[in-house]
Amino acid sequence: MAISDFDLVLFGGTGDLSMRKLLPALYARDRARDLPPEARIVCLGRDEKTREEFIQIVEKDSKPHVPAANLDKAVWERFCNRLQYASVNAKDGASFVHLKEALRDTEGLARVFYLATPPSLFASICENLSKGGLVTPASRVVLEKPLGRDLASARDINAQVGRYFQESQIFRIDHYLGKEAVQNLLALRFGNVLFEPLWRREWISDVQITIAEELGVGGRFDYYDTSGALRDMLQNHLLQLLCIVAMEPPVSNSADAVRDEKLKVLRSLKRFTPTTLAMNVVRGQYRAGHVNGVAVPGYRKEADANPDSRTETYVAVKAEIDTWRWAGVPFYLRTGKRMADSLAEIVVRFKSVPHSIFAHQNDTPNCLVIRLQPDEGLHMNLMAKQPGDGMRLRPVELELDFREKFKTPRMDAYERLLLDVLRGHLTLFMRSDELEAAWEWVEPILNHWDQQEADPVPYNAGTWGPAAASALIGRDGLQWREEA
Ligand code: BG6
Repeated sequence: MAISDFDLVLFGGTGDLSMRKLLPALYARDRARDLPPEARIVCLGRDEKTREEFIQIVEKDSKPHVPAANLDKAVWERFCNRLQYASVNAKDGASFVHLKEALRDTEGLARVFYLATPPSLFASICENLSKGGLVTPASRVVLEKPLGRDLASARDINAQVGRYFQESQIFRIDHYLGKEAVQNLLALRFGNVLFEPLWRREWISDVQITIAEELGVGGRFDYYDTSGALRDMLQNHLLQLLCIVAMEPPVSNSADAVRDEKLKVLRSLKRFTPTTLAMNVVRGQYRAGHVNGVAVPGYRKEADANPDSRTETYVAVKAEIDTWRWAGVPFYLRTGKRMADSLAEIVVRFKSVPHSIFAHQNDTPNCLVIRLQPDEGLHMNLMAKQPGDGMRLRPVELELDFREKFKTPRMDAYERLLLDVLRGHLTLFMRSDELEAAWEWVEPILNHWDQQEADPVPYNAGTWGPAAASALIGRDGLQWREEA
């Protein structure tokens, strides 16, 4: 679907996210000729700058994030011609006059306000946009995480933004939903008949969802220390992946059909009590270690670190979904910084055959691994007969490497999500009730940790996390995939 003409306004237009992700993603889409000729991008910052000064900043801070192979002089020039700069202070209504001057006042033109700012500024930005007469029924607003730090603050954001924008105008970003591989998961589940009949408690024994990162938090300590792995990764990215794995088939691919089903999963997650929390949640923090052979400091020794910090850099949770489809099937979720490898994957382990006709043979249950990062693919373990005399079974792997299969260029998550915002497609964005349901489920964990006043358990950088996490899954007679 072609995109109609628009003015895209980037609050936080000189910030890190705009320079590293948003402008390079928009350049990529300009290069692919997805942007209409007249479309403009108005970047906002607090400082007074001329347009030329701003373009110089973009050349210095954003251009290096465009892959060299994609840089084309003429396209870059065309892209820069779309860029405007205006100095606006989110909290000063009078300064919005500069934005008004920069915008074209074409009736019905789609105006997208992208708030790449701390959430503490969302309310004043929306209020000042509205007071300045800049919000029209054709306007959209995009909210970047963190969307709250608990249920109350998430509700607050929803209420404040909701005062000026209808739900159908609000795009809450979770960049994991824009990843090709996550989209592919929908295709796998709902574009094939093969998996659906087996996708239930009768045939699936457990599911593991992992997002592991080799990176530490160097350079982002201030933000990260007030957040931690639970708020930064689990409440959003991991729970969104869990929803897509566990949801019922939606009636269509429409935004509300998909989001209704995801919401039901979030609402069916078994609530933790103080007793079940102790058994089912592990909070870890990395100590010094080696990642890829390089010595790295512990979390408390990172630059600008608080040496007594209790912020978790790792979290593992055993979640359960109280529905007919999933009752009794554990969903093990984990994420951490400074782990042994950088990967994101979903492992669906099936049950053993109900009755084996092959005596004295090891039974390795079937297992489907959906690899999201770094190499997008599917691996499926099956049992096969070993060639030769006798009937000996052994596990074999069916492999599907998506990069091999589809040679077409990939889209970055932000490219896809920005296109969807510009087209007005909401399917890949969280609805207000989803956001609140996710916070409602994680909140008892946060409260428990606050009350406990205990340090997170340590793990060495460059490992797969704390021993307590192996014990968590080990109590059910299982192992994390990398430890098996
Ligand atoms: C962000 C988190 O949302 O996701 C970061 O704030 C994390 O801490 C990042 O590193 C991971 O995203 P990706 O796409 O690199 O897996």
